[in-house]
Amino acid sequence: MAKLQKFTCVDDVPNLEQALQECIDIKNDPLATPDFGKNKTVGLVFLNPSLRTRISMQKACQNLGLNYIIINAGQDAWTWELQDGAVMDGTTVEHIKDAAKVLSEYCDVIAIRCFPAFKDKEEEDTQDRVLNQFIEHATVPIVSLESATRHPLQSFTDMLTIKENWKENRKPKVVLTWAPHVKSIAHSVANSFCEWVKEIDADVTVAFPEGYDLDTEYTDGLSITNDQDEALKDADFIYVKNWSSFSDYGATPEVKEDWLLTLEKLKQTNNAKIMHCLPVRRNVEISDEVLDSENALVYQQAGNRLITAQWVLKNIL
Ligand code: CP
Repeated sequence: MAKLQKFTCVDDVPNLEQALQECIDIKNDPLATPDFGKNKTVGLVFLNPSLRTRISMQKACQNLGLNYIIINAGQDAWTWELQDGAVMDGTTVEHIKDAAKVLSEYCDVIAIRCFPAFKDKEEEDTQDRVLNQFIEHATVPIVSLESATRHPLQSFTDMLTIKENWKENRKPKVVLTWAPHVKSIAHSVANSFCEWVKEIDADVTVAFPEGYDLDTEYTDGLSITNDQDEALKDADFIYVKNWSSFSDYGATPEVKEDWLLTLEKLKQTNNAKIMHCLPVRRNVEISDEVLDSENALVYQQAGNRLITAQWVLKNIL
């Protein structure tokens, strides 16, 4: 496969089926190329918290013999200015374009996590301004560790996990269902899941309560319903995730029906496997009984984050 120029969305992967097969090969022997990254350095830039992404990237670097540098922007690096042309007489100390160019002097690839700020839908979040500033100004390839619009490493992992768990000779029914939460949550995991799942052979339904629409750029072509029961019927995989409203950007309108995923709701499915990117709010999004059941794939998903991270680093360096 040709070397990746960047890894930010499904279109950056030239052949997903081949990539998934290569991930299975990596999983069978993750330490096969311990010197691959000799004398190469990955910059891991975090503007937001992380457990899985941070640790799986570090471990992937270790397995490939890569050096890595972690930068927690705003904590152990200067606070970055994002606005082009800003008069920097306020609290920001370094412009993001300078940071991107400087980090390129030290790193062979830069991976960055930059959540939406929910302040400016059109100019900042939907345009993925922070990620795109890095792509524009860095002189090395960029990997998204979750941006304002997408979480490609998570979705790549989710496709791998579905592939590993589907052996029947028919398309699986895959349901992405909204779940309750206690605060306003980004659309990136849901957007990305929609984008990637269109590329595998599956019947896909997206279920959410009225008011919790996603950007149609991602959901176009998928079956949409506001009825969770209808969606779950005969499901083979259920991907659970909260997100806030897209049209009323970041709003969390009241939902009268109960969207918590429980064992009772699983009865109408085809003994569905349960997926979630984690972290999960137990007994708010998914009940303990479901998460602790044999149907839950959440730890397998978390483990597979290492495999897809290794694939991306191998194919971008
Ligand atoms: N799923 C995921 O990206 O987890 P973290 O936010 O902990 O990295």
